[in-house]
Amino acid sequence: MSTIAADFKKLTAHAKEYGFIYQSSEIYDGLAAAYDYGPNGVLLKNNLKEYWWRSMVQLHDNIVGIDAAIFMHPKTWKASGHVDAFNDPLIDNKDSKKRYRADVLIEDFMDKIEGKINKEIAKAKKRFGDDFDEAQFRETNPNVLRYAKQHNEIGTRLATAMTNGDMAELKQIIEDLGIADPDTGSKNWTDVRQFNLMFSTQLGNIAGEEGKLYLRPETAQGIFVNFVNVQKTTRQKLPFGIAQIGKAFRNEIVARQFIFRMREFEQMEMQFFIQPGTQMEWYKYWKETRLKWHKALGHPAEKLRFHDHENLAHYADAAVDIQFEFPFGFKELEGIHSRTDFDLGAHQELSGKKMQYFDPQTKESYVPYVLETSIGADRLFLATMSHALREEQVPGQDDPNKRRDVLALHPAIAPIKAAIMPLKRNDERLVNMAKDIFNDLRYRFDVQYDDTGAIGKLYRRQDAVGTPFCITVDFDSLADGEAPGTVTVRDRDTLEQARVKIEDLAGFIGPKVDMATLLAEAGK
Ligand code: GAP
Repeated sequence: MSTIAADFKKLTAHAKEYGFIYQSSEIYDGLAAAYDYGPNGVLLKNNLKEYWWRSMVQLHDNIVGIDAAIFMHPKTWKASGHVDAFNDPLIDNKDSKKRYRADVLIEDFMDKIEGKINKEIAKAKKRFGDDFDEAQFRETNPNVLRYAKQHNEIGTRLATAMTNGDMAELKQIIEDLGIADPDTGSKNWTDVRQFNLMFSTQLGNIAGEEGKLYLRPETAQGIFVNFVNVQKTTRQKLPFGIAQIGKAFRNEIVARQFIFRMREFEQMEMQFFIQPGTQMEWYKYWKETRLKWHKALGHPAEKLRFHDHENLAHYADAAVDIQFEFPFGFKELEGIHSRTDFDLGAHQELSGKKMQYFDPQTKESYVPYVLETSIGADRLFLATMSHALREEQVPGQDDPNKRRDVLALHPAIAPIKAAIMPLKRNDERLVNMAKDIFNDLRYRFDVQYDDTGAIGKLYRRQDAVGTPFCITVDFDSLADGEAPGTVTVRDRDTLEQARVKIEDLAGFIGPKVDMATLLAEAGK
């Protein structure tokens, strides 16, 4: 447990120190659950968004993009169900005056039980060594069976209470389990009540309820209300999709774990419009496709898993999360939802405008069904960074004290593709040559010139931000040197150094850092 906390602490400190993420308005002691992306952070985030956009829009003939406004007509949120049902159950502690999500308190309790199961397994693994059969142990060990039963019972009670919107039962579960305020240990709780997560604001020229606007809590509705516009202008036939990247806002009660749960965040959503009755086939297709996409990015299979929803959102007939093992455990990274005709049907009813598709084959008009993939750009950023950041022994060094922090990002998403540095910063010839290379490569890649320290220190700094290549101009590079017109290119992961002709540099680096390489891996 303490290792996990230390890892996470290191990640957040690293993110700040190297210009990835800063606390919002830090000089005023920060604003809870709001973060800013720094110079390296914005590059990494843009690359992740580009990877998503290109794999959706550029590589699918039948997916097109839009960029809808954040403000939408307030009726949008009535039709979508967000005004009435986009709630979290909150509970206050009367002594500490702290506010919590009742379901999260119960889930945290369940995580502790899972922790006990894992502890039993780890103990047994140590005892039995190579002969240990985990599956058999889980099925037979009385302690594990007891914990698993308790875990399942709580899970079922929680899911039923959430589905039924039964606030009294949630309070009862908290009392039955003896859950205390995590900060103070007090069990003096209020009743549980529903809390709507939408932020609202007011139009300047209309007073009162009439002028009330919401900041969108999901980007998906901007896609639904444009379904007919897009279908008509692109003449797409079903199945086809509309993709969008944009900000969303939720007044989260529990906003924590760094950029995992924020009040302002960015979503990458794709609504895939399909014939009613085909949703399970497409559900399966998008589950597989999206998992492959994550693996290509370098997220290993054991850090990803599917988690079926027990408690379906008001719009879904099937839903699954792709969970990622963050430093604080397996949590939702992406949602794949079969949304039926709920949204288009509701907009059709409330607006009085037809949200239908004329099927040229069956000669019928109908409201399409929708399969949605929805991922938070910030959560993807956190998953990517938390997996990529490692402290390791410097490759090729025997001395155990020679360690480095390295951000082992896929080269195509690394903020800086190559750093160019002169071996000595006070030698004008080396500096000029390095600057010429930099000024040439910057037209093609995000590159950096750096001569602010000794070469070893510069390498470490580039490792820490994930730069896949360091290009060094040394005395051999000069016209009177041993290998004129060549430079060394150091590989971040292997530390191997290749001697490359200056005119071949773009060709040497290009294919490795090209997004096409990553997209091709995802498509395999
Ligand atoms: N349109 C469907 C929808 O919004 P969701 O499961 O509520 O579904 C989709 O959200 C994704 O958006 C999540 O899987 C997560 O990656 C991201 N997300 C949701 N709430 C978030 C928050 N408060 N902070 C950061 N990311 C969030």
